[in-house]
Amino acid sequence: MSEWQKSDWRTKPRVQMPDYTDAAELAAVEGQLSKYPPLVFAGEARKLKRALGAASRGEAFLLQGGDCAESFDQFSANAIRDTFKVMLQMAMVLTYGAKVPVVKVGRMAGQFAKPRSAPTEVVNGVELPSYRGDIINELAFTPEARIPDPKKMLQAYTQAAATLNLLRAFSTGGYADVHQVHSWTLGFAEGEKAERYRDMANRISDTLDFMTAAGITSDATHALQTVDFYTSHEALLLEYEEALTRLDSTSGKWLAGSGHMVWIGDRTRQPDGAHVEFARGVLNPIGLKCGPSTTAEDLKVLMAKLNPQNEAGRLTLIARFGAGKVGEHLPRLIKAVQDEGANVVWVCDPMHGNTIKSSTGFKTRPFEAVLSEVREFFAVHKGHGTVPGGVHFEMTGADVTECTGGVRAVTDEDLSSRYHTACDPRLNASQALELAFLVAEELSDLRAERAQAAAG
Ligand code: PEP
Ligand code: CO
Repeated sequence: MSEWQKSDWRTKPRVQMPDYTDAAELAAVEGQLSKYPPLVFAGEARKLKRALGAASRGEAFLLQGGDCAESFDQFSANAIRDTFKVMLQMAMVLTYGAKVPVVKVGRMAGQFAKPRSAPTEVVNGVELPSYRGDIINELAFTPEARIPDPKKMLQAYTQAAATLNLLRAFSTGGYADVHQVHSWTLGFAEGEKAERYRDMANRISDTLDFMTAAGITSDATHALQTVDFYTSHEALLLEYEEALTRLDSTSGKWLAGSGHMVWIGDRTRQPDGAHVEFARGVLNPIGLKCGPSTTAEDLKVLMAKLNPQNEAGRLTLIARFGAGKVGEHLPRLIKAVQDEGANVVWVCDPMHGNTIKSSTGFKTRPFEAVLSEVREFFAVHKGHGTVPGGVHFEMTGADVTECTGGVRAVTDEDLSSRYHTACDPRLNASQALELAFLVAEELSDLRAERAQAAAG
């Protein structure tokens, strides 16, 4: 077989990608992007891969989260800061439950292109091409806005570069003060759950006080003040991905320079399709969304293509089946992985299988369904003795009303008040943190059970 080239995907069937009308303009943009610096470096992608390898063995836990779709309009330092901050808070809670390091990966600095369930959208009898993310076309419902424009790739690159720059600054700037853990649960209503979460926050806070009192400062404080924070997005718009793909001179391998980790969506995972062809050739950690239609056969072919060396941390399987369906689908995929002796990180995305239309007409996700899917994911892994390696959420640090439920209950009627997403409904900061407490509890139960089993 001849060596992989970054343009090989062009010979394969492609889905969910725009048909640009002006070939010359597209070529000019690709030429320009190819000259820009990569956003991430191979050493960082390799470091993330090692961390994910640890997650595949239960020695670390992945927290991946951020916007469904980043938007040009809502781009601001405060929005980035708030999402970053909530992720650090969640990570602190998870570390407590899992007693292992939490690998933090944002859906940030490149999450612009969206697959859609229909190629067109009808509003009041008018049919227009669907919105496909700010890197492709515009959300406004006019024929002009929906024309794919290659120049948007340049704006996306600029925004991604600025976002990453800020994230890198926050990551070393001692930003999230863990001593604030108490205030994180302040809005939680009374009740048995809130009580348990507050109890956990108290214990985290006690531990920190103890460390300070015992004079554990320099090294430990440093560890709490700097974090490794990685970026990720769906590698959907392959012209953009190819233009940012660079040869890593150290290893002689290709790096997708657009983000540390890239994933293949549930709609673009055809084993002989363009997206799999692209992803298989880059050295980055790769995510693969697995929905209800994923067969064991397909998964086996995909694992062989995407991780032929069976490298730990290379492949993350992101299960997104929907509440009530995990027990039906996850076991056959676990079996396929076991049959092949494959190294994978098992991750739960409880968002994409739980999207419904609210009584008030908004696309939403009931928080209860999100929680249920997470619980089912843990239960199935518990039953199989396999490792739940992480979670993947659509969330924001902003106080939006896009998903219903949670301790500060958002109702169907509330959705219209602060519904800002450019695509799918996200958890707000309070819902995201509540979810982190639930996951921490699941992880801590699992640890206790396994310790007990090991003790005989
Ligand atoms: C997404 O993660 O935004 C997405 C479109 O997911 P999926 O491919 O799982 O539907
Ligand atoms: Co989404």
